[in-house]
Amino acid sequence: MTAKLIDGTAIGADVRREVTEQVAALKAQGGIVPNLSVVLVGDDPGSQSYVSSKGKACTQAGMDSVTHRLLATASQAEVEHLVASLNADPHVNGILVQLPLPKGLNEEAVLNGISLDKDVDGFHPINIGRLVMKGRVPLFVPCTPAGCIILLERSGVPIAGATAVVLGRSNIVGIPVAALLNNRDATVTICHSRTPNIAEVVRRADILVAAIGKPEYVRGDWIKPGAAVIDVGINRVEDPSAKRGYHLVGDVCFSEVVQVAGAITPVPGGVGPMTIAMLLANTLHAFKLQHERA
Ligand code: GUN
Repeated sequence: MTAKLIDGTAIGADVRREVTEQVAALKAQGGIVPNLSVVLVGDDPGSQSYVSSKGKACTQAGMDSVTHRLLATASQAEVEHLVASLNADPHVNGILVQLPLPKGLNEEAVLNGISLDKDVDGFHPINIGRLVMKGRVPLFVPCTPAGCIILLERSGVPIAGATAVVLGRSNIVGIPVAALLNNRDATVTICHSRTPNIAEVVRRADILVAAIGKPEYVRGDWIKPGAAVIDVGINRVEDPSAKRGYHLVGDVCFSEVVQVAGAITPVPGGVGPMTIAMLLANTLHAFKLQHERA
């Protein structure tokens, strides 16, 4: 059996088209469009490239986006002041502070400072608290985890009643995606570096989300036949024959797992495009929240 490919490029493009249409309608009605303000501290090449993709995606969707760059040596107060000024600016609908912040900065304090209704990354502790608590609804859901759920839903993978395994417990992906699966009535297990016999746990999964940051870690014989596999990993592997000197692989050994799974996301072209699509959706949502209230 060969797994069906879950095409994140196509599903992400659908979400972006839906957002673009709504932005065009808003512009036609009131003349103003959603604005995303991105804060980039330091010069990490990966973060720079993510931030530039986010800005371009906003422009393509007809939204405004401004990137505020601070030096890696910026103080905690400088970062917090910038966030406070964006909170106070009525033209700014969404604020995203690119993570990780340079060493020495207190990420928790910075994220605490973002206005709840501009928290398009969904990382404010109140939004995360609402996400993990039963019966509470966050204003925003973190983009990559939300993208994983849309990929499953739009591919017809049943979540309610499924056994789901999440590899990794990061604040950005593992913890929130486990909460989202739990909220949709999956039975969820989170595995991490201290979990004994991970392969055995993974073998029970109808849905596997791999977000562990280890190239091709998940092997074909770990997979329950027919399982849905969402690979969040984006790992660079040195490759002198490649133009850039590396190629990208996920956390899943695709060539093995594709032969056993029922559905699988490729890397690239799986979860990656969904993160940006969901950021645009969250920015549109922020705009609507703020304008309904105004
Ligand atoms: N770094 C890696 N992923 C993300 C994300 O989704 N949002 C932010 N702000 N930083 C990230």
